[in-house]
Amino acid sequence: MKRVFSGVQPTGNIHLGNYLGALKQFVELQEDYQCLYCIVDMHAITVPQDPKELRKHILDVAALYLAVGVDPEKSIVFVQSDVPGHAELGWILTCSSYTGELSRMTQFKSKSKNKESAPTGLFSYPVLMAADILLYDTDVVPVGTDQKQHIELCRDLAIRVNNTKKKTFVVPEGRYLKAGARIMSLDDPSKKMSKSAENIHSRISLLDEPSKIKKSIMKATTDSEGVIRFDVDEKPGISNLLNMYSVLSNKTIDDVVGMYEGKGYGDFKKDLVEITVEALKPIKERFDDIRESEELIKILKSGAERANAISEKTMARVKENFGLGLK
Ligand code: TYM
Repeated sequence: MKRVFSGVQPTGNIHLGNYLGALKQFVELQEDYQCLYCIVDMHAITVPQDPKELRKHILDVAALYLAVGVDPEKSIVFVQSDVPGHAELGWILTCSSYTGELSRMTQFKSKSKNKESAPTGLFSYPVLMAADILLYDTDVVPVGTDQKQHIELCRDLAIRVNNTKKKTFVVPEGRYLKAGARIMSLDDPSKKMSKSAENIHSRISLLDEPSKIKKSIMKATTDSEGVIRFDVDEKPGISNLLNMYSVLSNKTIDDVVGMYEGKGYGDFKKDLVEITVEALKPIKERFDDIRESEELIKILKSGAERANAISEKTMARVKENFGLGLK
Protein backbone atom coordinates (compact mmCIF):
# COMPACT_ATOMS: atom_id res chain seq x y z
CA MET A 1 0.00 0.00 0.00
CA LYS A 2 1.32 3.44 -0.91
CA ARG A 3 2.04 5.78 1.96
CA VAL A 4 0.80 9.28 2.83
CA PHE A 5 2.39 11.64 5.36
CA SER A 6 1.32 15.10 6.40
CA GLY A 7 1.51 17.39 9.41
CA VAL A 8 0.06 20.49 11.02
CA GLN A 9 1.82 22.81 13.48
CA PRO A 10 0.20 23.12 16.90
CA THR A 11 0.57 26.89 16.92
CA GLY A 12 -2.99 28.12 17.27
CA ASN A 13 -6.50 27.47 16.18
CA ILE A 14 -6.80 25.46 13.00
CA HIS A 15 -8.65 27.48 10.41
CA LEU A 16 -10.70 26.95 7.30
CA GLY A 17 -7.58 27.23 5.10
CA ASN A 18 -5.92 24.32 6.95
CA TYR A 19 -9.15 22.34 6.66
CA LEU A 20 -9.91 22.97 2.99
CA GLY A 21 -6.26 22.81 1.85
CA ALA A 22 -5.07 19.83 3.89
CA LEU A 23 -7.32 18.13 6.46
CA LYS A 24 -10.12 17.43 3.98
CA GLN A 25 -7.58 15.53 1.88
CA PHE A 26 -6.37 13.60 4.96
CA VAL A 27 -9.82 12.11 5.37
CA GLU A 28 -10.29 11.24 1.68
CA LEU A 29 -6.89 9.55 1.36
CA GLN A 30 -7.20 7.16 4.28
CA GLU A 31 -9.36 4.77 2.25
CA ASP A 32 -6.65 4.02 -0.31
CA TYR A 33 -3.30 4.68 1.41
CA GLN A 34 -1.49 3.91 4.62
CA CYS A 35 -1.64 7.36 6.19
CA LEU A 36 0.48 8.97 8.89
CA TYR A 37 -0.82 12.25 10.28
CA CYS A 38 1.52 14.06 12.59
CA ILE A 39 1.30 17.00 14.97
CA VAL A 40 4.60 18.72 14.25
CA ASP A 41 5.47 20.20 17.64
CA MET A 42 9.19 20.50 16.87
CA HIS A 43 8.35 22.80 13.98
CA ALA A 44 6.29 24.90 16.36
CA ILE A 45 9.33 25.71 18.54
CA THR A 46 11.10 27.44 15.64
CA VAL A 47 9.36 30.49 17.14
CA PRO A 48 8.97 31.06 20.90
CA GLN A 49 6.19 29.01 22.54
CA ASP A 50 4.73 28.93 26.00
CA PRO A 51 5.17 25.27 27.15
CA LYS A 52 1.66 25.01 28.64
CA GLU A 53 0.03 26.50 25.58
CA LEU A 54 2.04 24.25 23.27
CA ARG A 55 0.88 21.10 25.12
CA LYS A 56 -2.70 22.32 24.92
CA HIS A 57 -2.42 23.04 21.20
CA ILE A 58 -0.91 19.60 20.53
CA LEU A 59 -4.00 17.95 22.00
CA ASP A 60 -6.30 20.42 20.24
CA VAL A 61 -4.81 19.57 16.84
CA ALA A 62 -4.94 15.83 17.61
CA ALA A 63 -8.61 16.11 18.61
CA LEU A 64 -9.36 18.14 15.49
CA TYR A 65 -7.75 15.52 13.24
CA LEU A 66 -10.18 12.99 14.69
CA ALA A 67 -13.11 15.43 14.71
CA VAL A 68 -12.82 16.12 10.96
CA GLY A 69 -12.86 12.38 10.29
CA VAL A 70 -9.33 10.99 10.53
CA ASP A 71 -9.92 7.44 11.74
CA PRO A 72 -7.24 6.12 14.15
CA GLU A 73 -8.16 2.55 13.16
CA LYS A 74 -7.05 3.33 9.61
CA SER A 75 -4.47 6.10 10.03
CA ILE A 76 -1.51 6.57 12.36
CA VAL A 77 -1.94 9.78 14.38
CA PHE A 78 1.01 10.88 16.51
CA VAL A 79 3.16 13.69 17.86
CA GLN A 80 6.45 14.40 16.05
CA SER A 81 8.66 14.70 19.17
CA ASP A 82 7.48 11.25 20.36
CA VAL A 83 9.42 9.66 17.47
CA PRO A 84 13.19 10.36 17.75
CA GLY A 85 13.87 9.59 14.08
CA HIS A 86 12.55 13.02 12.99
CA ALA A 87 15.31 14.95 14.78
CA GLU A 88 17.92 12.33 13.89
CA LEU A 89 17.16 12.32 10.18
CA GLY A 90 16.73 16.11 10.32
CA TRP A 91 20.39 16.46 11.28
CA ILE A 92 21.60 13.97 8.68
CA LEU A 93 19.69 15.82 5.95
CA THR A 94 20.98 19.18 7.25
CA CYS A 95 24.42 17.87 6.31
CA SER A 96 23.17 17.23 2.76
CA SER A 97 21.57 20.68 2.33
CA TYR A 98 23.04 24.05 1.38
CA THR A 99 22.57 27.48 2.92
CA GLY A 100 21.92 28.85 -0.58
CA GLU A 101 18.84 26.70 -1.20
CA LEU A 102 17.48 27.31 2.30
CA SER A 103 17.92 31.08 1.91
CA ARG A 104 15.67 30.94 -1.15
CA MET A 105 12.67 29.57 0.77
CA THR A 106 9.99 32.27 0.57
CA GLN A 107 8.55 31.44 4.00
CA PHE A 108 11.94 31.92 5.62
CA LYS A 109 12.48 35.13 3.65
CA SER A 110 9.17 36.61 4.78
CA LYS A 111 9.58 35.51 8.43
CA SER A 112 13.12 36.88 8.68
CA LYS A 113 12.48 40.06 6.68
CA ASN A 114 14.11 43.22 8.10
CA LYS A 115 15.86 41.18 10.80
CA GLU A 116 19.62 41.23 11.08
CA SER A 117 19.66 37.71 12.47
CA ALA A 118 17.01 34.97 12.41
CA PRO A 119 16.65 31.82 14.53
CA THR A 120 18.63 28.89 13.06
CA GLY A 121 15.58 26.64 13.53
CA LEU A 122 13.51 28.90 11.29
CA PHE A 123 16.20 28.63 8.65
CA SER A 124 16.51 24.84 8.75
CA TYR A 125 12.77 24.27 9.24
CA PRO A 126 12.26 22.89 5.69
CA VAL A 127 15.00 20.28 6.28
CA LEU A 128 13.13 18.95 9.32
CA MET A 129 10.00 18.88 7.18
CA ALA A 130 11.88 16.84 4.55
CA ALA A 131 12.97 14.45 7.33
CA ASP A 132 9.34 14.04 8.46
CA ILE A 133 8.37 12.96 4.97
CA LEU A 134 11.37 10.82 4.03
CA LEU A 135 11.41 8.97 7.36
CA TYR A 136 8.32 7.00 6.32
CA ASP A 137 9.12 6.27 2.65
CA THR A 138 6.22 8.57 1.84
CA ASP A 139 4.72 8.55 -1.66
CA VAL A 140 2.16 11.35 -1.35
CA VAL A 141 2.06 14.53 0.78
CA PRO A 142 -1.34 16.28 0.92
CA VAL A 143 -0.78 20.00 1.65
CA GLY A 144 -1.84 23.50 0.63
CA THR A 145 0.15 25.24 -2.11
CA ASP A 146 2.00 27.38 0.46
CA GLN A 147 4.09 24.24 1.13
CA LYS A 148 5.02 23.62 -2.52
CA GLN A 149 8.52 25.04 -2.27
CA HIS A 150 9.23 22.94 0.83
CA ILE A 151 8.03 19.79 -0.95
CA GLU A 152 10.31 20.59 -3.90
CA LEU A 153 13.26 20.94 -1.49
CA CYS A 154 12.37 17.58 0.08
CA ARG A 155 12.39 15.96 -3.36
CA ASP A 156 15.74 17.60 -4.20
CA LEU A 157 17.29 16.32 -0.96
CA ALA A 158 15.97 12.79 -1.55
CA ILE A 159 17.29 12.74 -5.12
CA ARG A 160 20.64 14.21 -4.03
CA VAL A 161 21.17 11.52 -1.38
CA ASN A 162 20.00 8.76 -3.73
CA ASN A 163 22.54 9.94 -6.32
CA THR A 164 25.48 10.38 -3.96
CA LYS A 165 24.89 7.38 -1.67
CA LYS A 166 23.05 4.16 -2.38
CA LYS A 167 19.34 4.60 -3.17
CA THR A 168 18.04 5.52 0.27
CA PHE A 169 14.78 7.45 -0.06
CA VAL A 170 11.45 7.26 -1.84
CA VAL A 171 10.97 10.54 -3.76
CA PRO A 172 7.54 11.89 -2.70
CA GLU A 173 4.93 13.91 -4.61
CA GLY A 174 2.95 16.86 -3.22
CA ARG A 175 -0.83 16.64 -3.55
CA TYR A 176 -2.75 19.90 -3.91
CA LEU A 177 -6.48 20.39 -4.40
CA LYS A 178 -7.80 22.59 -7.22
CA ALA A 179 -10.05 24.70 -5.02
CA GLY A 180 -9.10 25.06 -1.36
CA ALA A 181 -5.35 24.79 -1.90
CA ARG A 182 -4.88 28.45 -1.01
CA ILE A 183 -7.59 30.14 1.05
CA MET A 184 -6.92 33.83 1.51
CA SER A 185 -7.39 36.17 4.46
CA LEU A 186 -10.90 37.55 4.77
CA ASP A 187 -9.68 41.07 5.57
CA ASP A 188 -6.88 41.14 3.01
CA PRO A 189 -7.27 38.69 0.11
CA SER A 190 -3.69 39.31 -1.04
CA LYS A 191 -2.44 37.30 1.97
CA LYS A 192 -3.12 33.65 2.82
CA MET A 193 -5.42 32.87 5.73
CA SER A 194 -3.09 32.24 8.67
CA LYS A 195 -3.17 31.09 12.30
CA SER A 196 -0.93 33.93 13.42
CA ALA A 197 -2.57 37.02 11.83
CA GLU A 198 -3.56 39.56 14.49
CA ASN A 199 -7.09 40.23 13.24
CA ILE A 200 -9.32 37.30 14.28
CA HIS A 201 -11.76 38.27 11.52
CA SER A 202 -9.07 37.49 8.92
CA ARG A 203 -9.78 33.79 9.46
CA ILE A 204 -12.49 31.32 10.42
CA SER A 205 -11.27 28.85 13.00
CA LEU A 206 -12.84 25.41 12.93
CA LEU A 207 -14.10 25.91 16.49
CA ASP A 208 -15.55 29.42 15.99
CA GLU A 209 -19.06 30.09 17.28
CA PRO A 210 -21.72 30.76 14.59
CA SER A 211 -21.92 34.45 15.63
CA LYS A 212 -18.17 34.88 15.05
CA ILE A 213 -18.36 33.09 11.69
CA LYS A 214 -21.19 35.42 10.66
CA LYS A 215 -19.29 38.52 11.70
CA SER A 216 -16.08 37.49 9.92
CA ILE A 217 -17.80 36.59 6.64
CA MET A 218 -20.11 39.61 6.60
CA LYS A 219 -17.08 41.88 7.19
CA ALA A 220 -14.95 40.13 4.52
CA THR A 221 -13.31 42.49 2.04
CA THR A 222 -14.92 42.49 -1.42
CA ASP A 223 -15.02 45.22 -4.09
CA SER A 224 -17.36 47.93 -5.31
CA GLU A 225 -18.49 46.28 -8.58
CA GLY A 226 -21.33 44.35 -6.93
CA VAL A 227 -21.20 41.46 -9.44
CA ILE A 228 -20.46 37.90 -8.31
CA ARG A 229 -17.88 36.44 -10.67
CA PHE A 230 -14.60 34.56 -10.33
CA ASP A 231 -11.59 36.70 -11.19
CA VAL A 232 -8.65 36.29 -8.82
CA ASP A 233 -6.72 39.29 -10.18
CA GLU A 234 -9.55 41.82 -10.40
CA LYS A 235 -11.80 40.47 -7.64
CA PRO A 236 -9.62 38.59 -5.13
CA GLY A 237 -12.05 38.97 -2.21
CA ILE A 238 -15.15 37.60 -3.95
CA SER A 239 -13.07 34.92 -5.70
CA ASN A 240 -11.79 33.72 -2.33
CA LEU A 241 -15.34 33.54 -0.94
CA LEU A 242 -16.44 31.68 -4.11
CA ASN A 243 -13.63 29.19 -3.55
CA MET A 244 -14.77 28.60 0.02
CA TYR A 245 -18.40 28.27 -1.06
CA SER A 246 -17.50 25.83 -3.83
CA VAL A 247 -15.46 23.46 -1.63
CA LEU A 248 -17.85 23.58 1.31
CA SER A 249 -20.93 22.93 -0.85
CA ASN A 250 -19.29 20.48 -3.30
CA LYS A 251 -20.48 22.63 -6.21
CA THR A 252 -18.30 23.94 -9.03
CA ILE A 253 -17.43 27.63 -9.04
CA ASP A 254 -19.37 28.04 -12.31
CA ASP A 255 -22.48 26.57 -10.68
CA VAL A 256 -22.16 28.89 -7.70
CA VAL A 257 -21.65 31.94 -9.95
CA GLY A 258 -24.77 30.89 -11.93
CA MET A 259 -26.83 30.62 -8.72
CA TYR A 260 -26.04 34.23 -7.76
CA GLU A 261 -26.51 35.93 -11.13
CA GLY A 262 -28.22 39.26 -10.53
CA LYS A 263 -27.90 38.92 -6.75
CA GLY A 264 -25.85 41.11 -4.41
CA TYR A 265 -22.89 40.39 -2.15
CA GLY A 266 -25.12 40.52 0.96
CA ASP A 267 -27.28 37.55 -0.15
CA PHE A 268 -24.21 35.58 -1.21
CA LYS A 269 -22.40 36.20 2.07
CA LYS A 270 -25.48 35.26 4.14
CA ASP A 271 -25.70 31.90 2.36
CA LEU A 272 -21.96 31.35 2.77
CA VAL A 273 -22.37 31.95 6.53
CA GLU A 274 -25.07 29.28 6.63
CA ILE A 275 -23.05 26.74 4.65
CA THR A 276 -19.94 27.34 6.77
CA VAL A 277 -21.80 27.07 10.07
CA GLU A 278 -23.46 23.82 8.90
CA ALA A 279 -20.12 22.33 7.76
CA LEU A 280 -18.32 23.18 11.00
CA LYS A 281 -21.10 22.25 13.45
CA PRO A 282 -20.49 18.47 13.52
CA ILE A 283 -16.72 19.05 13.73
CA LYS A 284 -17.12 21.22 16.81
CA GLU A 285 -19.49 18.73 18.44
CA ARG A 286 -17.13 15.80 17.88
CA PHE A 287 -14.16 17.89 19.00
CA ASP A 288 -15.73 18.65 22.39
CA ASP A 289 -16.26 14.91 23.07
CA ILE A 290 -12.85 13.75 21.83
CA ARG A 291 -10.76 16.49 23.46
CA GLU A 292 -11.95 15.51 26.93
CA SER A 293 -11.67 11.74 26.44
CA GLU A 294 -8.81 9.61 27.79
CA GLU A 295 -8.89 7.75 24.51
CA LEU A 296 -7.06 10.64 22.82
CA ILE A 297 -3.79 10.07 24.73
CA LYS A 298 -4.02 6.31 24.07
CA ILE A 299 -4.44 6.94 20.36
CA LEU A 300 -1.39 9.23 20.27
CA LYS A 301 0.78 6.80 22.25
CA SER A 302 -0.14 3.87 20.08
CA GLY A 303 0.33 6.06 16.98
CA ALA A 304 3.86 6.97 18.10
CA GLU A 305 4.72 3.29 18.61
CA ARG A 306 3.50 2.37 15.15
CA ALA A 307 5.27 5.35 13.55
CA ASN A 308 8.46 4.55 15.44
CA ALA A 309 8.47 0.97 14.17
CA ILE A 310 8.33 2.21 10.55
CA SER A 311 10.91 4.95 11.14
CA GLU A 312 13.44 2.57 12.69
CA LYS A 313 13.62 0.59 9.46
CA THR A 314 14.34 3.75 7.46
CA MET A 315 16.94 4.94 10.00
CA ALA A 316 18.77 1.59 9.85
CA ARG A 317 18.99 1.95 6.04
CA VAL A 318 20.06 5.61 6.29
CA LYS A 319 22.81 4.83 8.82
CA GLU A 320 24.03 1.91 6.73
CA ASN A 321 24.17 4.00 3.55
CA PHE A 322 25.89 6.94 5.29
CA GLY A 323 28.30 4.71 7.26
CA LEU A 324 27.05 5.97 10.61
CA GLY A 325 27.38 4.08 13.92
CA LEU A 326 28.22 0.42 14.41
CA LYS A 327 26.55 -2.35 12.43
P1 TYM B 1 0.79 24.60 8.70
O1 TYM B 1 0.63 24.13 10.12
O2 TYM B 1 1.11 26.03 8.47
O3 TYM B 1 -0.52 24.26 7.88
C1 TYM B 1 -1.10 22.97 7.88
C2 TYM B 1 -1.64 22.64 6.52
O4 TYM B 1 -2.60 23.62 6.12
C3 TYM B 1 -2.25 24.14 4.83
N1 TYM B 1 -2.63 25.57 4.80
C4 TYM B 1 -3.47 26.11 3.91
N2 TYM B 1 -4.14 25.59 2.87
C5 TYM B 1 -4.95 26.42 2.16
N3 TYM B 1 -5.10 27.75 2.44
C6 TYM B 1 -4.43 28.30 3.48
N4 TYM B 1 -4.59 29.59 3.76
C7 TYM B 1 -3.57 27.48 4.26
N5 TYM B 1 -2.78 27.71 5.34
C8 TYM B 1 -2.20 26.53 5.65
C9 TYM B 1 -0.75 23.96 4.73
O5 TYM B 1 -0.33 23.94 3.38
C10 TYM B 1 -0.56 22.64 5.43
O6 TYM B 1 -0.82 21.58 4.53
N6 TYM B 1 5.37 23.06 7.34
C11 TYM B 1 3.99 22.65 7.53
C12 TYM B 1 3.84 21.50 8.52
C13 TYM B 1 4.68 20.31 8.23
C14 TYM B 1 4.43 19.35 7.22
C15 TYM B 1 5.46 18.37 7.35
C16 TYM B 1 3.43 19.21 6.23
C17 TYM B 1 5.81 19.93 8.90
N7 TYM B 1 6.27 18.77 8.37
C18 TYM B 1 5.55 17.27 6.50
C19 TYM B 1 3.52 18.09 5.38
C20 TYM B 1 4.54 17.15 5.51
C21 TYM B 1 3.19 23.82 8.06
O7 TYM B 1 3.71 24.74 8.64
O8 TYM B 1 1.84 23.67 7.94
